Amino acid sequence: MENQVTVFDHPLIQHKLTHMRDEKTGSKLFRELVSEVSMLMCYEATRDLPLKEVEVQTPLVKTKSKVIAGRKLAFVPILRAGLGMLEAMLEMVPAAKVGHIGLYRDEETHEPVEYYNKLPSDIEERDVFVLDPMLATGGSAVDAINIIKKSHPHSIKFLCIIAAPEGIKALTEAHPDVQVFCAAKDEGLNENCYIMPGLGDAGDRIFGTK
Ligand code: URA
Repeated sequence: MENQVTVFDHPLIQHKLTHMRDEKTGSKLFRELVSEVSMLMCYEATRDLPLKEVEVQTPLVKTKSKVIAGRKLAFVPILRAGLGMLEAMLEMVPAAKVGHIGLYRDEETHEPVEYYNKLPSDIEERDVFVLDPMLATGGSAVDAINIIKKSHPHSIKFLCIIAAPEGIKALTEAHPDVQVFCAAKDEGLNENCYIMPGLGDAGDRIFGTK
């Protein structure tokens, strides 16, 4: 399980995350910080993308230089908090396609109910990055990945900002083939399934709802 999970401990990410945790941080700054952390995480999580050499004419000379080879990406935010990470990811990889998954838990059966699912039609050729800032129980992440796997993407990675050990356990056990990236592994869940110390409800803080 340990090498399936990468914590990005870059000082810039840790610094921004501290401001995200601060209850005094309002929605505008919180959204900006989610974007900035997502951009830095995207940079780290795409480190292994293969490169190929191409020829380029500079103003001075013809030379060989590298571009990303072949592999196409897709970003799939889990609605709604995952949307907060999307723009930054697209700024880094504008050619990526975007899918959306919307899920909620039926209060009686506790079964996941899918209310939205639109994935790129060529997802079979794509490496998918599933986006959700908070990996709490892992329920939504596991369900979203179950749904995505039915379309047979080339690979799946999961990007979150804060992960609880409970969520990491659930996700890595259900999907041992999915690499998990986060900015912090927190202590655990409270009785309401909030991550502790966490940052509260990421969706509410991004969208200013409460
Ligand atoms: N979702 C959130 O937004 N915050 C938590 O702490 C747990 C789940």
